[in-house]
Amino acid sequence: MTFPPDFLWGTATAAYQVEGGNTNSDWWRWEAEGHVREGNQAAVCCDWWANAERDLDAAAELGTNAHRLSLEWSRIEPEPSVFDSEALARYRAILQHCHAVGLEPMVTLHHFSNPLWLADKGDFNSDVVVDYFSRYAAKVVDVLGDLVPKWVTINEPMTYAVMRYLTGEFPHTRRGYGAFMEGVYNLLRCHAVAYHAIKERHPAALVSTADNMQVFAAPPDGTALDRWWAGAVGALYNDAWPRALHTGVFHGPLGRRRVKGLAGTADFSGINYYTRFYLRFPPRQGFIEREWGPGAVVSDGDYGEVYPYGLYQMIQRVLPYGKPIYITENGVPDAADRLRPGFILDHLRQVWQAISFCYPVMGYYHWSLVDNFEWERGWTQRFGLIALDLETQARAWRPSAHLYREICRSYTITDDMARRYAPEMLPVMWPGGDQTSEVF
Ligand code: FCB
Repeated sequence: MTFPPDFLWGTATAAYQVEGGNTNSDWWRWEAEGHVREGNQAAVCCDWWANAERDLDAAAELGTNAHRLSLEWSRIEPEPSVFDSEALARYRAILQHCHAVGLEPMVTLHHFSNPLWLADKGDFNSDVVVDYFSRYAAKVVDVLGDLVPKWVTINEPMTYAVMRYLTGEFPHTRRGYGAFMEGVYNLLRCHAVAYHAIKERHPAALVSTADNMQVFAAPPDGTALDRWWAGAVGALYNDAWPRALHTGVFHGPLGRRRVKGLAGTADFSGINYYTRFYLRFPPRQGFIEREWGPGAVVSDGDYGEVYPYGLYQMIQRVLPYGKPIYITENGVPDAADRLRPGFILDHLRQVWQAISFCYPVMGYYHWSLVDNFEWERGWTQRFGLIALDLETQARAWRPSAHLYREICRSYTITDDMARRYAPEMLPVMWPGGDQTSEVF
């Protein structure tokens, strides 16, 4: 299965999850208060603030030609309206290094982490966030814009709002439906102002958001009510945000809201895809249900079902917007690398199939390059192609890193790769390909 010669092969990371020492972030305080699984803290993380270059060099060795990374707002603006030129200079050096080793950067302005001062002002529940975000975006683009062809303003806005204001697993001060909708509305306003701040300075840059999209389905034994509910949750979680970026109007469960300057602010569709969830009505476990069918392949820590076809379904779901599509994240927590080789092969097969139908999928960023701090799950989930020993900072390539290198270097996935890295995928992806032909 062959990919186009201009395809972008990437990996993805986020500042807070790899840099270490982000003491001015609301996550740092949240961890100190003991909210993260097993009392884990980000601490020195993957030590990127001192040495991002080590892992970026590895990304280049992997044969990738792109990398998605984010900027830590709390470093760049440690106090309101005070910008840290040394922090900006460090990001410039990191971005220059990306280019030097052949990685096209895609840069995220906001990936789940806020400056403490902003959290204390009410973050996305307070209107002041819009002006602050606009000034932050303008400053960053003035200093770094010449190095960045692709921008993500906000990572997974719907996930962020759900985890913060509904489930409460992310740092928050308020919870409830009102706080959630207010949060979504201000995230939309922040995206709109940042989009224009970037495009005024660099009209050719591509700007959008990276949207978490999951398959929500009724279980096979589900009722009509379950199917209705799965459809309603999918419409809110998967569709409402991208649709708002195209039309300027957000369709919430209790009404619509128009946002000034929002229409037409997505230059591409960014899909972060991980898993499928079965939903029942009424919900038994709150908003995010963790149910899957018998025989489902489930990743570490009951993170979710491995369901590659869902990636194809999500690609189809954004086709109507008519924009180039990037898979801005896709990966699996799998410390033992038991599932990851097959996961990569089969998810990339879905991408290949989409491309074969002339769907405009332009790139794929695997989450993640190296094990990193997985938010409320701390260090209990290992998403890296490269394993990290937190104590010694030693790195070790998992077998899937070697597989991904073969794929990125050859722009193909082959049955020979499957034979060597994930033989269980042969009968799935190449039916009959594991047998000798009896015809001739
Ligand atoms: C996504 C987040 C990313 C990482 C992966 C596993 O939802 O964007 O930071 O946590 O999940």
